[in-house]
Amino acid sequence: MSGIDREVEYYERTKVDKRLIKIKDEDLFKAIEEVFDHRTLLNVQKLMRKGIIKELRGAVAQGKEAKVFWGIGPNGEDLAIKIFYVETADFIKGRYKYIEGDPRFEDLKRNPRKLICAWCSKEFRNLKLAYEAGVRVPKPVAVLENILVMEFISLGDKRGVPAPLIKDYPPEDIEKAYWTIIDYVKKAYVNGGIVHADLSEYNVLNTGTELVIIDWGSAVKNNHPLAKEFLKRDITNITRFFTKLGLSDVDVEEIYREILEEAGESEE
Ligand SMILES: Nc1ncnc2c1ncn2[C@@H]1O[C@H](COP(=O)(O)OP(=O)(O)O)[C@@H](O)[C@H]1O
Ligand SMILES: [Mg+2]
Repeated sequence: MSGIDREVEYYERTKVDKRLIKIKDEDLFKAIEEVFDHRTLLNVQKLMRKGIIKELRGAVAQGKEAKVFWGIGPNGEDLAIKIFYVETADFIKGRYKYIEGDPRFEDLKRNPRKLICAWCSKEFRNLKLAYEAGVRVPKPVAVLENILVMEFISLGDKRGVPAPLIKDYPPEDIEKAYWTIIDYVKKAYVNGGIVHADLSEYNVLNTGTELVIIDWGSAVKNNHPLAKEFLKRDITNITRFFTKLGLSDVDVEEIYREILEEAGESEE
């Protein structure tokens, strides 16, 4: 199947998906109002007043921690607006190992809203580091408390349709895709000094021509006590997925050692 045919085929399969239904402004506002607190709504308005977001379109994805919207920027460009839920204390569970010992998170542990805002701003900063390191990620645009604004990654040229995850829409050239992702992992570590720490087929989008790594909230600096462990786990997880697709003869240990070596570190 050609690239376009594959794209059309994927599109057909997901056509009834609610994500593709565009909501009129008023309904959308109501929908947002039901999910988010007043302060979040004011912050959305603030971003609009500042001209960072010109228009808010429909929701494209809904996770346990955040809802992602499609929006339009001042120059007509597509934006992804990730809004973290602030009233879910659940969010904090399972996250301590990523923030423990990180001075940026001191004092925040007892205040869920503050913690979530700090998490959101951490995702923004990580995104910036990865972007500047040459990793293909959504270009970071702005952050305000629990709202993260970034480049919208669409499927081909279908505006407002988010590029699918590689788990649902695997790349055609497995080998090439795998090494592209490994190269991004390396660039993030060597040039950006960070490890994604939640890398898997659930956090890589496939536009049809590009692979884009998203969801950098869990990322840690290379001096984090678990950075190397996370680095190896990232390589292991992504390798496992591509091996299922038919990739062979890949040595996770070797890739891991090579990355450390290139960063001028050695394994203890
Ligand atoms: N920049 C983006 N462009 C398009 N879609 C996005 C973007 N960021 C996230 N999404 C969509 O939102 C979903 C959830 O985003 P993610 O950052 O992985 O949040 P979560 O913490 O809920 O896993 C993604 O699987 C994708 O469908
Ligand atoms: Mg995710």
